[in-house]
Amino acid sequence: MGLKVRKAVFPVGGLGTRFLPATKAMPKEMLPVVDKPLIQYAVEEAAAAGIEEFIFVTGRGKTAIEDHFDHSFELEYTLQQRGKQEEYQSLSSLIKLPGSISYIRQQEPLGLGHAVWCARHLIGNEPFAVLLADDFIYSSTPCLKQMIDVYQSGVMVAVMNVESRHVNRYGIIDILEESQKQIKVKAVIEKPSPDEAPSNLAIIGRYILDAKVFEHLSRQESGAGGEIQLTDALSPMIHEMPFYGYRFDGVRYDCGSKGGLLAASIAVALARDELREEVVNELSKVMPQSINPV
Ligand code: UTP
Repeated sequence: MGLKVRKAVFPVGGLGTRFLPATKAMPKEMLPVVDKPLIQYAVEEAAAAGIEEFIFVTGRGKTAIEDHFDHSFELEYTLQQRGKQEEYQSLSSLIKLPGSISYIRQQEPLGLGHAVWCARHLIGNEPFAVLLADDFIYSSTPCLKQMIDVYQSGVMVAVMNVESRHVNRYGIIDILEESQKQIKVKAVIEKPSPDEAPSNLAIIGRYILDAKVFEHLSRQESGAGGEIQLTDALSPMIHEMPFYGYRFDGVRYDCGSKGGLLAASIAVALARDELREEVVNELSKVMPQSINPV
C-alpha cells in the first residue's frame, strides 16, 4: 500500500488573459463546460479519488469560486418553494464537510510554482495532489484516481503525447524507462523548443507531490516566461525520490484555450442523451458541407 493522499491544491490564482474580456470580473475556472464550471469538475474528480481536504489558491477577483462552493440560501429556498428538486439537488452536492475547504491568497500571480508554494502551511509534511482545472480530462475513471491507485511515494505527474510543434507550451519529460502506464523520468524541461525537447511527452495538470517540493519552491527562482515554474522545482526531485510520469486513460482538453473549451463543451454535450440530438442539429446548421475541418 502506498502513502495516503488526503489533500489537494487547486491553483486558481492566474489571470486567464487568453479569455479576456470574459475573465475580467470572473475567474477562468468558473467558465462552464455545458452546465458546470471547470473548477467543479476538478473538485468532483478529487473527491472521487478520495481527497478529503480541498485547498484553493486564489487571487483577487476570485470570490465567485468561494460562493460557488457555499450555500446560496435565497436560491435554495426559492428552488424548494417551486418544487425544483433536481436543480436543488445539483446545488446541495457542492457543499463539502464543514472545514474541508480552505482558501489561500496568492497576492501576486508569480507563476504556478509560486501558487503551490502558497499552500505549504496547509499541506505540512505529507504527499498531496495538485489539479489544474483548465486541464479538463474526460475519462471513465477520474484521472487523479487512476494515479492515486498506483502511487506509492515520491512524485507522480500525468503525461500525454502532444504534437511536436506544441512542446514549447508544456513541461516535457525525458524518459528513463517505461513499464505499462508508468514512466520512470530522467529529466523534466519547462517549455523547450521543438529542437531541444527530449520527447513529446508533456506534463498535464494532475500531480501527486512529495512535500519536499516546498524546499525547492522556497528558493523562488523564476524560469520560463519570468514565472516561478513548478516544473523547475520538480527537476531536482528526480534524484531524491521515485519520480514517475503516468499515461492516463482519457481525453484531455486544454480549457485554458478557446478552442479547447469549445471542443470540451461539444464533446460533453454529445455524450449526454438529453442534449445530443439538439447539439447535432445545431452543429449541422453552423457547419455546412462546404466548410472542411482543417
Ligand atoms: P496558466 O498558465 O493557464 O495561466 O496557468 P493563466 O494566467 O491562468 O492564464 P493565461 O495564460 O493568462 O490565459 C495554469 C494554472 O495555474 C494557475 C492558473 O490559475 C491555472 O489554473 N496559476 C497560474 C496560478 O494559480 N497562479 C499563477 O501565478 C499562475
